[in-house]
Amino acid sequence: MSLFDFLETIMTQDEMKQAVAQEALNYVIEDSIIGVGTGSTANFFIDALASIKDKIKGTVASSEATAQRLASHGIKVFDLNDVEQISVYIDGADESDANLNLIKGGGGALTREKIVAAVADRFVCIADESKLVEVMGKFPLPVEVIPMSMKYVSREIVKRIGGNVELRDFTTDNGNFILDVSNLKITNPKQMETELNSIVGVVTNGLFANSPADVLLLATPNNVRVLNKPNL
Ligand code: 5RP
Repeated sequence: MSLFDFLETIMTQDEMKQAVAQEALNYVIEDSIIGVGTGSTANFFIDALASIKDKIKGTVASSEATAQRLASHGIKVFDLNDVEQISVYIDGADESDANLNLIKGGGGALTREKIVAAVADRFVCIADESKLVEVMGKFPLPVEVIPMSMKYVSREIVKRIGGNVELRDFTTDNGNFILDVSNLKITNPKQMETELNSIVGVVTNGLFANSPADVLLLATPNNVRVLNKPNL
């Protein structure tokens, strides 16, 4: 692939992210508080949200970076502890399967993302079509851990679910570390999410399977597809 073709591919993916972010505005409920995710797709959403900022009460951010970007647009950011209800949480993902189970945390914000998503009435995930996979696990699964437990948790992960564990050169907004687990085939995401969260020292992991997305807006080069969580 030539450099020109490569650059064109990147631009197209960014255009898809922008299109899906714009589409997500239709899921914003007026006069309510919106939960906002983290990452490049969420950043496009923040930029789009700025155009209707006077129609919402404000937002809750899933990371310091998101809070800063929201504030830079003059969008009000609430502390989650000052808020009782979030109408919708809008965020990207690293992978999704057809049941809208997700891997998140590529940007390291998984714990706050899971918290804000838990409070929200509805989770609308926004992604380009490259994120939809048959079986999750090609993208390394992020696990946030308390720093002193890092070695113990790494051993336990290999014992319990296998894979290769790598420490990311990164500190989360919560002052913790991230372990990225590669070489997984996640055929039972609910069970894996629960198993990983039962290891002492794990804060949370990037599987959103016990509470998956409610809606996945998936950008293709031609349109934005809407996938609803199936009734299983
Ligand atoms: C950050 C996340 C992001 O939603 C995920 O990494 C997708 O990012 P992007 O929109 O940049 O592809 O979970 O922790």
